[in-house]
Parts: sequence; C-alpha cells; structure tokens
Amino acid sequence: MSRLKQFSVGVAIVLVLLLSACGGGTTGEVPNKDNSGEGTESSEAVALYKKRCISCHGTELQGRAGPNLQQVGAKLTEEEIVDVVSNGRKGMPKFESSLTTEQIQSLAAWLAEHK
Ligand code: HEC
Repeated sequence: MSRLKQFSVGVAIVLVLLLSACGGGTTGEVPNKDNSGEGTESSEAVALYKKRCISCHGTELQGRAGPNLQQVGAKLTEEEIVDVVSNGRKGMPKFESSLTTEQIQSLAAWLAEHK
C-alpha cells in the first residue's frame, strides 16, 4: 500500500519536472512576436523589473515588501524614480552599481508611465 503511494508520488514528481522543463523551452508563448518594432525600451525595462524588482514590488507592481508601483508615475517624476533606484531609500536597495545608467533610465521611463 505505502509502496504504491511512494511510487505514485515519484511518478508525479517526474511528471512535474518534465512539464516544467518543457515549459521553459520552445512550447511557451511568443510574447515579443507581435510588437517587435516598437516598445523595445519598455520590454527591456520589463525584463529588468522581473529580474531585479519583482521580489519586492510584486508581479503586477502591486507591492510586497516594497510599495505598490502601479501609480508611481503620478507620485514621482522620472528623475525622482531614477534617484530612488540609483541611490536607494530605507528598505529600497540602491542599484547604481549593479545596473547601468541606461538600464535605470529605461526602468524609470517605464515606471513613470504608470499613472
Ligand atoms: C529588497 C526589496 C526591494 C527591491 C529588490 C526593490 N525595491 Fe523598490 N522599494 C523597496 C522599498 C521597501 C521601498 C520603500 C522605500 C521607502 O519607504 O522610502 C521601495 C521604493 C521604491 C520606489 C519609490 C516608490 C514610492 O512610492 O515612492 C521605486 C520607484 C522603486 N522602489 C523602484 C524599484 C525598482 C525599479 C526596483 C528594481 C530595479 C526595485 N525598486 C527593487 C524595496 C525594494
């Protein structure tokens, strides 16, 4: 009985591993295909956001450890966002040494559009 249980748990784990391996490969959606001429700057910002900011500001900018950024553009100017991201503030780490000025600029421009 418990042997059988262990076996099926094992099978389930293997299946999950196989599925997630495939998901990372060629079967995923192709998000860039239809808007490839324009918006390259914001997709760079989105990629950076996902890599560096999502853990504190959430998948939808809704906030986690850090504040909600969905309307940050109504509160801060692009320059102010550059400043916060470069130099940090309280719980917000500074990124001036881990991101280039260009990367911070594109993040700020993208965030400033969120009003
Ligand atoms: C370790 C967690 C953490 C990470 C990672 C992080 N932030 Fe923050 N962020 C915070 C916290 C906490 C605050 C609030 C700071 C304060 O209270 O002054 C904040 C504030 C901000 C603000 C100001 C919001 C406001 O309403 O004034 C901006 C803009 C911002 N973060 C952007 C970013 C960007 C862009 C990244 C990725 C490059 C990032 N953050 C990564 C924690 C984080």
